[in-house]
Amino acid sequence: MQTPHYALIIRNADIVDGTGAPPFRGDLGINHQHIACIAPSHSLHGDHILNATGLVVAPGFIDVHTHDDREVIDTPAMLPKLTQGVTTVITGNCGISLAPWLATCQPPAPLSLIGTQKDYRYATVRAYIAAVEAAQPAVNVGLLIGHSTLRVNAVADLQRGATPDEISAMQILLAEGLQAGALGLSSGLFYAPAKAADNSEIIALAKIAAASGGIYTSHIRDEYNGVLDALAEACDAAKAAQLPVVLSHHKCAGPANWGRTTETLAYIKERRQHQAVGLDAYPYTAGSTVLDPDYVDGVIRIMISFSEPHPEMQGRDLADIATEWQVDQKEAALRLHPAGAVYFQMREDDVERVLSDTHTMIGSDGLPHDSHPHPRLWGAFPRVLGHYSRDKQLFSLSEAVRRMTSLSADQFGLKHRGRIALDHYADLVIFNPGTISDQATFAHPKQAASGIHWVIVNGQIALQDGVSTGQRSGKVLQRSS
Ligand code: ZN
Ligand code: CU
Repeated sequence: MQTPHYALIIRNADIVDGTGAPPFRGDLGINHQHIACIAPSHSLHGDHILNATGLVVAPGFIDVHTHDDREVIDTPAMLPKLTQGVTTVITGNCGISLAPWLATCQPPAPLSLIGTQKDYRYATVRAYIAAVEAAQPAVNVGLLIGHSTLRVNAVADLQRGATPDEISAMQILLAEGLQAGALGLSSGLFYAPAKAADNSEIIALAKIAAASGGIYTSHIRDEYNGVLDALAEACDAAKAAQLPVVLSHHKCAGPANWGRTTETLAYIKERRQHQAVGLDAYPYTAGSTVLDPDYVDGVIRIMISFSEPHPEMQGRDLADIATEWQVDQKEAALRLHPAGAVYFQMREDDVERVLSDTHTMIGSDGLPHDSHPHPRLWGAFPRVLGHYSRDKQLFSLSEAVRRMTSLSADQFGLKHRGRIALDHYADLVIFNPGTISDQATFAHPKQAASGIHWVIVNGQIALQDGVSTGQRSGKVLQRSS
């Protein structure tokens, strides 16, 4: 009998399979993009052997909350994600997607976070997917279609709810995207282009997503004082449309609401008795989005992540800029506009409470086009594994990995991903559990994590010792695939 031969072997690793089960030691054999064998240590033979003694092999991480729509095309090496062990990104969150785009205007904020008019150039989701495939990104890409993007295309006046004709037009655009393979609908009712929409508008669209087995992700209307009502609104829409909802970057923002995640998590738990409710979070007490004077309260710390008229102010605190200019913070924000900012709007106990919920998936919410980005862009996943799991012992390593892999794959309908199992795709990360840590900080945000040895995407080694191999083997993950 001939011993089987594998193209790639991971030898003597501690296998954390993504299900939450404890690690076990063994070898993995990889052939043709897939995990072909899981066997006892030192039992497999092959052409290329990665010695993983003392290291963990886990399913590649799935970043369920990204704004990488343009990044996967313009910068397909995808180093901010690959260096964290991320092998799949879900784009199109918070109501913002690059496609479809038929409008002739400049994309308004926050659509501007991911591109200008020249970047919004895909009339259909099919055309966008073709562009992603042509760019050959290093990571897999699953996409959502943004409600705000649909509105800019179809609604004549963004200050009011959509008319029945406009809803029909949005439904047609959304249906094309779902047909092309999008995973679902996202919304950001907090933001100006979507604020005027009521839940009937969302439900009309979510029903289209439901009809093709998609999901609904929601950056809720209010993460501050009105957080409970806003959570209810998102859950109500999903219930009416009969599809699963994911509550994006769950938080209680603003000092008046610190500590309230006890209430919100209890509320979400109660809703889960009657419908499918998921949530994601990033492991930091600061959020980041466009800089808007309306979000400036004069209380919390705000740091500038980019400013078109004042690029020299990136990385500096709004309060210091205001003092220097001898104006109040709202006025300073106006002068910096168009700009982005990091808002220190959460409290540590809330972040830890949300991260500790067994239903919380990890999503970076990184903003790849900011010149001084929030460190979550480069650090979210290693920070959960190193800081929160290993150092603070908030949860076990196996549980941390589960919330980055199988939970996420199941939630977004990604088949044969998110687990180390026979015939699953060989999306894998090999890291040192003792040293893995985020290096990106608020002061120096563009730093690759340490402790990541290899990252494998669809059976190809994309990252070795923290350095890109140049292999770009990501795929667009369509709902049916
Ligand atoms: Zn958001
Ligand atoms: Cu987001």
